[in-house]
Amino acid sequence: MVSPLLILCLVLPVLLLFFLRQRGTVKNHSFPPGPKGLPIIGNLHQLDNSLLYLQLYKLSKKYGPIFSIQLGLRPTIVVSSPKLAKELLKDHDLEFSDRPKLLGQQKLSYNGLEMIFSPYGEFWREIRKISVVHVLSSRRVSRFSSIREFEVRKMLKKLSGHASSSKVTNLNELLMSLTSTIICRIVFGRSYEDEGTERSRFHSMFNECQAMWATFFVSDYIPFLGWVDKLSGLRDRLDQNFKDLDKFYQEVIDERMDPNRNTEEHEGIIDVLLQLQKERSSSIDLTNDHIKALLLDMLVASTDTTAATTVWAMTALLKNRRVLKKVQEEIRTLGGKKEFLQEDEIEKFPYFKAVTKEVLRLYLPAPLLVARETTEACTIGGYEIPARTIAYVNAWAIHRDPESWKNPEEFLPERFLDSSVDFHGQDFELIPFGAGRRICPGIPMAVASVNLILANLLNSFDWELPAGVTKEDIDTEMLPGLTQHKKNPLSVLPKPGI
Ligand code: HEM
Repeated sequence: MVSPLLILCLVLPVLLLFFLRQRGTVKNHSFPPGPKGLPIIGNLHQLDNSLLYLQLYKLSKKYGPIFSIQLGLRPTIVVSSPKLAKELLKDHDLEFSDRPKLLGQQKLSYNGLEMIFSPYGEFWREIRKISVVHVLSSRRVSRFSSIREFEVRKMLKKLSGHASSSKVTNLNELLMSLTSTIICRIVFGRSYEDEGTERSRFHSMFNECQAMWATFFVSDYIPFLGWVDKLSGLRDRLDQNFKDLDKFYQEVIDERMDPNRNTEEHEGIIDVLLQLQKERSSSIDLTNDHIKALLLDMLVASTDTTAATTVWAMTALLKNRRVLKKVQEEIRTLGGKKEFLQEDEIEKFPYFKAVTKEVLRLYLPAPLLVARETTEACTIGGYEIPARTIAYVNAWAIHRDPESWKNPEEFLPERFLDSSVDFHGQDFELIPFGAGRRICPGIPMAVASVNLILANLLNSFDWELPAGVTKEDIDTEMLPGLTQHKKNPLSVLPKPGI
């Protein structure tokens, strides 16, 4: 049998010659400028999937607030200013409302039977409506407040134990475990934290799923070389992850449908969806695959982002003692030095709210938002963008735009005190949740969780660094991946605060 590598070696030079000749003749001058790439692979060899937003930020300094790159055979544009973000996400929101179809994301979303990766159209509109009305509305989110409060209280108790024994706490670990427990209980009606092997099965499946979402598959950018993914073993890894997740979800669904199940468990999002399926009251005939795909959306979109935001908030505050002291004073004074703060009380803390905005400006968990794709040709920044062009909005660059922000690199929550700028998609200089039709529908849930966790951490404890560690030692290095996590653990010493 002839090896695929041998075929590639024979075929590639011919293709290269063909593409080189093509490049000489067809050059679209009304497409945004960008770095010169190679035939077939385009700029792929110049980009590293980790910290892509930073590389794109550097390229924007050279080529301007709108530039192009070639990801294999896929033309791609990147916008890096609030003005262009507004053009793309507001004026041309409709044309940019699709998502590129990427192999890992498609496979794990049952070919887009959910919200994040489904193509723009009637199905997406309906599934988004169902989710927003029945699952993610402010009313539904507040019905889950008892779960959040219960788990946050449990975490505070654990921290009190650490405080009384002067134990150093790894905040990354603690907050990841807390958000994962909260979200699992909200989604499945139960958590997997205390169940040994079941817990590790659950965590390894979801970590693998996150990795598969972010993995670079050759087939996505150079489809005719798709077999490389098979050879490298990536396809098998993806298929295995899909099988594991599907089996897990089927078990959870069977468990929830079991008439003899423990009825003391909370109603989770899964029960809401199964009820809708039973009633056949939604415009889509919900199948088990729809439900599985939607549950995965909720889990993956919310756990990491919420955990990362709280870790970054504590990182920023420990590096900025002045702000830490000021926000703790506000919380303790306005909160009446209570042992525990409830969700509705936190709404009354203006400086605290400014702190969370500043954290989401400088340390955003999704720096490139989620990629979009054009459904039809349109004009952005005076350039003609053809249909099926991938578009990245570099929120990381936008949040540092010197025309919109004074001293953009400085962590200064005061900038929000006399400003109406908010993150709900109307102010294009602050878009941690995106904007337009595909704006994050999880904002109420994200805000409720982040506020509750952070306000109580600040209310209950004073925070010190382990012996020999100074605030300058706290780094802000990030892990590669779809969500930006702090790479090195944030180690702290909690001390009783009130
Ligand atoms: C701090 C926390 C969070 C951040 C920073 C965040 C950020 C984002 C961003 C940037 C997008 C892409 C928006 C765009 O394309 O313009 C998005 C989409 C999405 N988010 Fe969030 N998110 C967070 C929490 C959540 C939570 C808690 C949920 C739900 C439980 C959620 C569910 C979703 C879904 C379903 C989409 C896809 C929407 C669509 O394509 O129609 N997110 N999020």
